[in-house]
Amino acid sequence: MNKRSDKTFRTIHMNKIKLLSPDLINQIAAGEVVERPASVVKELVENSIDAGATNITVEIENGGLNLIRIVDNGCGMSREDAGKSILQHATSKISSQDDLFNIKSLGFRGEALASIAAVSEFSLITKDEESLAGTNLEFKNNEQTINDIGCSRGTTIVVNNLFYNIPARRKYLKTTVTEFGHIVDLFLSYCLAYPQINWKLMHHGKPVYQFQASIDVQRVSDVLGREIADNLLPIDIKLNEIHLSGFIGKPQIARNNRKIQYLFINNRPVNEFIVAKQIKDAFGQLIPRDLYPVYILNLKINNEKIDVNVHPRKLEVRFSEPQIIYRTVYQAVAMTLDEQDLVKSVKVDDFKRFVPVSEVLSTRQDSIPVSTKFNYQPRFSQSNLNSAMNFNREVAQDIPVVIRTQEQSNESSLVGQRKVIGQIQNSYIVVETAEGMKIYDQHATSERIQYEKIKKQWEIGKLGSQ
Ligand SMILES: Nc1ncnc2c1ncn2[C@@H]1O[C@H](COP(=O)(O)OP(=O)(O)OP(=O)(O)O)[C@@H](O)[C@H]1O
Ligand SMILES: [Mg+2]
Repeated sequence: MNKRSDKTFRTIHMNKIKLLSPDLINQIAAGEVVERPASVVKELVENSIDAGATNITVEIENGGLNLIRIVDNGCGMSREDAGKSILQHATSKISSQDDLFNIKSLGFRGEALASIAAVSEFSLITKDEESLAGTNLEFKNNEQTINDIGCSRGTTIVVNNLFYNIPARRKYLKTTVTEFGHIVDLFLSYCLAYPQINWKLMHHGKPVYQFQASIDVQRVSDVLGREIADNLLPIDIKLNEIHLSGFIGKPQIARNNRKIQYLFINNRPVNEFIVAKQIKDAFGQLIPRDLYPVYILNLKINNEKIDVNVHPRKLEVRFSEPQIIYRTVYQAVAMTLDEQDLVKSVKVDDFKRFVPVSEVLSTRQDSIPVSTKFNYQPRFSQSNLNSAMNFNREVAQDIPVVIRTQEQSNESSLVGQRKVIGQIQNSYIVVETAEGMKIYDQHATSERIQYEKIKKQWEIGKLGSQ
């Protein structure tokens, strides 16, 4: 650097140090929390959930640029608390350092309302159970007014003209449609995470979504539609002090994008890429590498074992024992696929095409057609696929072990607790077990064997980071 530019650098950057004004501090902080209208909706909806609301209505105009109004019937605030709520670092949710490592609410930083109020024309109406009158607080251009108002318990927050005082930020926002799209995505993820809440989303005065309080399976069907809901496998597994619950999509509804992948940690929607990878890996070759499994999963972990205070938007978490979490998620998803994917229901009529095992064994291997019943296309080469899907040695070595021992006998065989009785539709193996009759899909069985092999290799670290 020459002398001249060095001097210019100093003139610009090495002025006297000043403390920033509170307004400027708020605007800078707001930049981290409030990226776009959907981030405002996220913060306000989380406040309503934390307030114990059972009804939450989100009203939007012009993709949230002109108006975001959130109405809840939660615990509300006293006049004193309403006044404090838009101050920086003002929160009712934590009070000590210990609380910070045991966060039970969605919010805890005490900065969302301050940030939103700093970059919008902001007002709130609120009343708690004890107060006789409600409070109406307005904040615009750094001026605050506060008055009594008649209202019922709960809180309404109105955010007008977002970024009106930061034109550069407002210009950066996308079209109404794009911004509203972000709001819809966010809204639906909270609807899935909180089925016990009545939710409503309006755009330009018209209802877009409305969901009655329900149980999770019904809410999944309401939000994602019957077609998805009918192809989900429920998960409810407690392992290593972690509770994984929700649903995974059957392999045949895997998508070419990640849109139907909802992961919540302690009911908080998060972007957790490594957990997401464990879920995908647990499907192994049941879905092609370029498709993504569908899931709606909540991971319940002791609050002391996670750190949510990683980023102001709270979309990431840090685990104190990440490897246990990853392994548990992998195992839970794999176990669910293990239990459910191989055993299929077969209609009574199909039994008319029942072939006893002795006949199956007398049929040449390559004359048994490949099942086309399932839509998912495994990534085996065709030669691998044929041999894997036929009644081949590989299959025989694993699930229907009995087939090989059966070759000299015309009767059903028994190995351990399993007796292979025969085959239906050239596709299903009928097996008698201690618990009753089971029907194995050969196609899925052979894929499962591949998958189990990969899983075993993965577990002993042979595959490395593949
Ligand atoms: N809808 C609401 N109902 C009742 N109280 C509310 C509501 N919204 C905000 N509050 C009160 O205002 C306080 C400040 O809200 P704010 O969102 O700024 O902070 P927070 O939720 O505590 O933390 P974070 O910044 O992480 O969201 C809350 O702690 C809560 O006491
Ligand atoms: Mg909050």
